[in-house]
Amino acid sequence: MRRHVCHIAVKALLQPRQQSRFCVRQIDATYSDLCESEFLPPAADAGNQLTLIDQATGDVVHPLIVKSLVWSDEAATRLFAASLAQQPALANCFIELHGDLGAGKTSFVRHLLQALGVQGRIKSPTYAVVEPYELARTPTADQPLAIWHFDFYRFDDPQEWEDAGFRDIFASSGLKLAEWPEKAHGMLPLADLALHIEVQDDEARAVRLIAQTPTGAALLAAVSPA
Ligand SMILES: Nc1ncnc2c1ncn2[C@@H]1O[C@H](COP(=O)(O)OP(=O)(O)OP(=O)(O)O)[C@@H](O)[C@H]1O
Ligand SMILES: [Mg+2]
Repeated sequence: MRRHVCHIAVKALLQPRQQSRFCVRQIDATYSDLCESEFLPPAADAGNQLTLIDQATGDVVHPLIVKSLVWSDEAATRLFAASLAQQPALANCFIELHGDLGAGKTSFVRHLLQALGVQGRIKSPTYAVVEPYELARTPTADQPLAIWHFDFYRFDDPQEWEDAGFRDIFASSGLKLAEWPEKAHGMLPLADLALHIEVQDDEARAVRLIAQTPTGAALLAAVSPA
């Protein structure tokens, strides 16, 4: 297992209505000027201990946990999603999905929602920006679960954040999943878990999972493959 000790610099900026904004850069501790960002290459066995630091105060916010996996095909994506769906911490959680067009973000969400019990067609929210779901129960709890699947690719009007009620959604409990979170940069809260999906030459998907909160850490600790 490789173990890196790095600092994550998080710039906390105030937004209108005092919403926190996080800019996450991954900076290797050995870099003296702290300007060069470095992303660790995905590897099946990587486990990295990182630290999240508030740039303004220097305070440690949360130790980050990074896992890297390879989904060799969609069956592997489905297996991972099925394992994630067994985690009770999903009931109040925000997961960001990063990756180029066609990386497999929607596919992952479809597998996760199906594993949670969503029936019928799961549409990509590229045009609607958000698709909501309501489950009467989940595999782990006999309680309702609200799910929102966002795709911010076409999101370009900050006023829509208020008008469409996105602020309220992110303030409420439930499972929020967001493709293209970069396009809503500065509005989204810190994600519990960030998935970075990258297509490999053989069409497999290299996946880096970053837990940024205790909820994210609980998810990563329990999900398989470990
Ligand atoms: N693990 C995987 N292995 C091989 N192919 C995959 C895998 N995951 C997804 N795919 C394929 O990749 C294609 C694109 O997937 P998807 O629509 O999920 O991408 P996306 O990241 O949501 O793209 P966009 O940014 O356009 O929304 C689909 O044809 C899907 O079947
Ligand atoms: Mg998509």
